[in-house]
Amino acid sequence: VHWTDAERHIIADLWGKISPDEIGQQALSRLLIVYPWTQRYFASFGNLSNAAAILGNPKVAAHGKVVVAGLAKGIDNLDNVNSAYAHLSALHSDKLHVDPSNFTLLGDCLTISLAAKFGPSYFTPEVHETWQKFLNVVVSALSKQYH
Ligand code: HEM
Repeated sequence: VHWTDAERHIIADLWGKISPDEIGQQALSRLLIVYPWTQRYFASFGNLSNAAAILGNPKVAAHGKVVVAGLAKGIDNLDNVNSAYAHLSALHSDKLHVDPSNFTLLGDCLTISLAAKFGPSYFTPEVHETWQKFLNVVVSALSKQYH
């Protein structure tokens, strides 16, 4: 994957504005509400029975933060994203048995959270396009160890 200087700048600037607690909680909650079959992976998280329960669930909030913090691996290794995610990919495949199509769904939920937070004055089509490219590369890397 080739990154232009403009793309690197956009990603670094956007990442600098992201709070993993806030965006992670929102995006993971949205995933669990909008795509309820994703709840099957989080049986140990307690009450996910409705939207209010999901939004108020502290385990969802904590794990959302872990997931967004996990994006730092990609941010810090833009030229080496596949190897940066080799271990996490194997974990989600072999141990967690997460269907990789769910990575795309979570990516979409992250994008919605960012667009809602920053609005069109910051989250311009150019920023959106670059962010989507980054997500595509992360999703591809996370899907690499599936067999
Ligand atoms: C665990 C990252 C998507 C399900 C984790 C962990 C990280 C992570 C960093 C902790 C690993 C550890 O403890 O060593 C990511 C990233 C994703 C992603 C960066 C995509 C952008 C998903 C999706 C699902 C999922 C879409 C399911 C729908 C899980 C589960 C765990 C986990 C069930 C274990 C949770 C626990 O019991 O603590 N993920 N993940 N992940 N992930 Fe993901």
